[in-house]
Amino acid sequence: MRHLLSITDLSVEEITALLDTAADMEARPDEYAHRMAGKKLATLFFEPSTRTRLSFEAAMLELGGSVLGFAGANNSSAAKGESVKDTIRTVSCYADIIAMRHPLEGAPWAAVQSAAVPVINAGDGGHHHPTQTLADLMTLKKEKGRLDHLRIGLCGDLKFGRTVHSLIEALTRYPGNEFILISPRELRLPAGIIRDMEERGAAFREEESLEQEIGGLDALYMTRIQQERFFSVEEYLRLKDSYVLDEEKMRLAKPDMIVMHPLPRVNEIDVKVDDDPRACYFKQVLYGKIMRKALILKLTSEISLPAKPGPVRITTGRRCKNPRCISTTEQGLEPLFYPVHQVTVQGVPTRIPTKYFCAYCEMEQV
Ligand code: NCD
Repeated sequence: MRHLLSITDLSVEEITALLDTAADMEARPDEYAHRMAGKKLATLFFEPSTRTRLSFEAAMLELGGSVLGFAGANNSSAAKGESVKDTIRTVSCYADIIAMRHPLEGAPWAAVQSAAVPVINAGDGGHHHPTQTLADLMTLKKEKGRLDHLRIGLCGDLKFGRTVHSLIEALTRYPGNEFILISPRELRLPAGIIRDMEERGAAFREEESLEQEIGGLDALYMTRIQQERFFSVEEYLRLKDSYVLDEEKMRLAKPDMIVMHPLPRVNEIDVKVDDDPRACYFKQVLYGKIMRKALILKLTSEISLPAKPGPVRITTGRRCKNPRCISTTEQGLEPLFYPVHQVTVQGVPTRIPTKYFCAYCEMEQV
């Protein structure tokens, strides 16, 4: 069985194939209108959503399937204290595929432990959002003609913005991309993602001024300051209007730069920018639905999971240090970690691991 938890669960070749399927779906939608007849998609949204949930549902309906699910944790037995694993085990009896969104990081990794059907991560806390990345990749491919050799500015809340985390994971796998990371100091990318970029040899810089960088960009990816992830209201109020893209700043941009945003926007893009032909955020919405159609077809027709080294159990009672991790609240969820063995100068991995990463939220344990 095949799940999509993070975008790296798909190889670059598979992403290319999904983009090809999406292009064919756009050209010949009738060919796909009955492919999922008799099948059901469950959308389990423990956190608010407009586009992601509705685009999954529209995607399944356009494939001839049906949908069931809930929007909001209060509309499910989660409100009574049911665990994610029990919810998923239950819904596996009703649906052929599940798309889930949860406020806790790593929740879909817990879900797959009890899933009998494919699970798609539709956003887990401030961690990952791989299907938004599929929408973003289709946007770049269609509007810029390529996924490589792009200078892409990511602007706003890079700390909690899960769409940015997944997009970076995807785009660092294509050659020649350069990332300009524009954020207030407090909202810079998490250290783990910076380290991954360094390990992959990605070209990037951390900056604070959008005005100074916008002129050199091929694509500008704006993000909302993620109010719901802040522990302090004062800090949110101080940072919420850090960046506002308006007509004046658009005048500094290249004539073929595109503006992207996963939406919803609050203040960070002036509505006057919507009429600029470079504004692509509503196209992203449409592309997201098409890529989700291609993904549903793929996951429901595949049975094998590519081999990945599994996580390990640590017997010393270690628990994940991330307060937002699903493993801190979910009953009966065994703490699991990925050990990292440093390679010595002789090229031999150390016997005792030097680091551990949580198998759910992937945070390094220090
Ligand atoms: C994003 C999300 O939920 O992470 N929206 C989306 O899925 N299109 C971005 C956001 O909420 O700011």
